[in-house]
Amino acid sequence: MNGDSVGSDPVRTDCRSTSAAFETTRDPLRDRQPGDPAVHVYFGDNLSILRTLASDRVRLIYVDPPFNTGKSQARPQLRTTRDENGDRTGFQGKRYRTERIGLRAFDDCFTDYLEFLEPRLQEAHRVLCADGSLFFHIDFREAHYCKLLLDSIFGRESFLNEIIWAYDYGARSRTRWSPKHDTILWYAKDPARYVFKYEEIDRIPYMAPGLVGPEKAERGKTVTDTWWHTIVSPTGREKTGYPTQKPLGIIERIVRVHSMRDDLLLDFFAGSGTLGDAALRLGRRAILVDNNPQSMEVIASRLRVAGVQFHGYSPDTRPEHPSLFAS
Ligand SMILES: C[S@@+](CC[C@H](N)C(=O)[O-])C[C@H]1O[C@@H](n2cnc3c(N)ncnc32)[C@H](O)[C@@H]1O
Repeated sequence: MNGDSVGSDPVRTDCRSTSAAFETTRDPLRDRQPGDPAVHVYFGDNLSILRTLASDRVRLIYVDPPFNTGKSQARPQLRTTRDENGDRTGFQGKRYRTERIGLRAFDDCFTDYLEFLEPRLQEAHRVLCADGSLFFHIDFREAHYCKLLLDSIFGRESFLNEIIWAYDYGARSRTRWSPKHDTILWYAKDPARYVFKYEEIDRIPYMAPGLVGPEKAERGKTVTDTWWHTIVSPTGREKTGYPTQKPLGIIERIVRVHSMRDDLLLDFFAGSGTLGDAALRLGRRAILVDNNPQSMEVIASRLRVAGVQFHGYSPDTRPEHPSLFAS
């Protein structure tokens, strides 16, 4: 079946044969030599940085955008009429009365959010190579709106999986089913050819091993589109302190199955740099982008190795974060 495994499909070498990730003005990955940085970290707004990247170069994009873009989420609708006893003074000292006729909170919020995402996702599609994939990690409340947007950019047929990351942490609701999952949408640039390394999928125990025979029971079964995985432990070694950090186990699984050694990966909502950590551990290259100085600080202490280069930010001399060096 097309795209089912890496096999010998020549297109799978598209990304690796071209090391130029950037156009001439921003070009650290062009003519890359052994020993050059494997991870480039950019401080700034991701849209302007994405626009400088060359087309068709990135094998795998993982993004986990914030929901709140910083714009007003509740916008009252007001009607203003002339009234000598009104509450406001306007042009030429005339008095006006202001009435609140509604709250456009819901619509405006989503319009703003989708307008924020759209140009960035257009760029994501452009920079992906022919058999590249996008993994879009999103809160269950926004997933449906984002899927419609992604369908319009990638094409509905390019949607391959809705992965449910299920966890079991925190308080439980007494008034509805406790929401304990995130959604990860997988889109392939070309649904007929993409990287899916079946043999790299980790195996989990059968629920009823007695029904499948000892050999199968010993090997375990492959993971489905529902991934049970703990959150980053608030007390564990993996924790960086970045509030929205995602588990390395989730990102490593995506990187292992959907890219190959030395491939170029991209996360333009990088946060604590989980994708960069996974890339270094698994022998891939990565571009990380974030516009939050705290993200840069965390990435600098987390990925403290020679193969990481910052752009637009100078890493200070914080102590190493143990994550990258954990056994
Ligand atoms: C949910 S966090 C990502 C967390 C990340 N997956 C991790 O494991 O740590 C989203 C990130 O997007 C960044 N961000 C939001 N708007 C941005 C923009 N316009 N350009 C670059 N980064 C942005 C935020 O600073 C935040 O770090």
